[in-house]
Amino acid sequence: MARPPLSMQPTGWFQVAWSAEVDVGEVHRMKYFDTEMIAWRSADGRVAVMDAYCEHLGAHLGFGGHVEGDRIVCPFHGWEWNHEGRNVCVPYENHPNKGRRIRSHPVVERNESIWIWHDTHGRAPYFEVPDVFTGFDDGSTAADYYPAYPQSTLFRQSLELHPQYIMENGVDFAHFKYVHKVPITPTFTRQDFDLPVSYVDFTIAFDDTAAEDIRSGVQAINAGLGAAVTKSWGMIDNRTLSAVTPVDENTCDVRFSVWIGRQGQEHPKAAERAQRLAQGVIDQFEADIHIWSHQRYSDPPALSQKEFDGFRALRHWAEQFYPTSTEGRVPLEH
Ligand code: FES
Ligand SMILES: [Fe+2]
Repeated sequence: MARPPLSMQPTGWFQVAWSAEVDVGEVHRMKYFDTEMIAWRSADGRVAVMDAYCEHLGAHLGFGGHVEGDRIVCPFHGWEWNHEGRNVCVPYENHPNKGRRIRSHPVVERNESIWIWHDTHGRAPYFEVPDVFTGFDDGSTAADYYPAYPQSTLFRQSLELHPQYIMENGVDFAHFKYVHKVPITPTFTRQDFDLPVSYVDFTIAFDDTAAEDIRSGVQAINAGLGAAVTKSWGMIDNRTLSAVTPVDENTCDVRFSVWIGRQGQEHPKAAERAQRLAQGVIDQFEADIHIWSHQRYSDPPALSQKEFDGFRALRHWAEQFYPTSTEGRVPLEH
């Protein structure tokens, strides 16, 4: 096994669940960034993600804690905590304990998914999770696509890989033929790594296609190392979301969601067709996972001349998210 020499505590947004996994009133247990956490949803629909242990005497709120209105109630002595992790009631005292607070994480719910902001320096979020529909500024909405969860998703737990591997896939033109068994070479039309949210676009053509005959491509938006959304145009109209979230120092959970475009008139077989197409996209992603989960991070890598610029830009961009980076971002020139 090859533990990556990259920090498992990068800054950014990380998916911790799909929205439908945390119903109103439910308490959901999880472990990310070496921390036991819970997610719960109050009656008004808001989700909170916080550390799992009660600040009173340390009960795990995910084992018997329950939601009442807009608070979570500890199973041990009934203390009540709000979304921000503040104590709002000690049932056998006149006042809550104002001094103690359970660590609560900034949460965004978007595209059927629940995201938390992670930053070891404690900074507030300074970039956003891209929206898989509105992020591409083409007027599309969720209504134009079949929902992803649960049928068009993939969840793989505790894999020995690193979020950066998945991002590197985006500049890796040479793997398509070998991993995905498709006789194509993508041509990059955009590789923009200036900001924490980066953009990669490429067109896809069979190797002997003339430039004016190109009819399909992919646009990707990467937000930090934890979140990547893509839009595929041409062959299949789909959107994807890949999310890699560190569990501990060695492993990550991977979530992948696929939305297939609706095609105007609904016919009875349309949903089945969409499901089949989604499965094809998931199969391709699994082929990547098979490589990533056994890969050893190569640094410096033996790059070909054509690969050099893309990988260099991506790796310099990635550095800004690691805790050792002193500034917000590392300039590309250094
Ligand atoms: S440990 Fe939670 S109320 Fe006592
Ligand atoms: Fe791939």
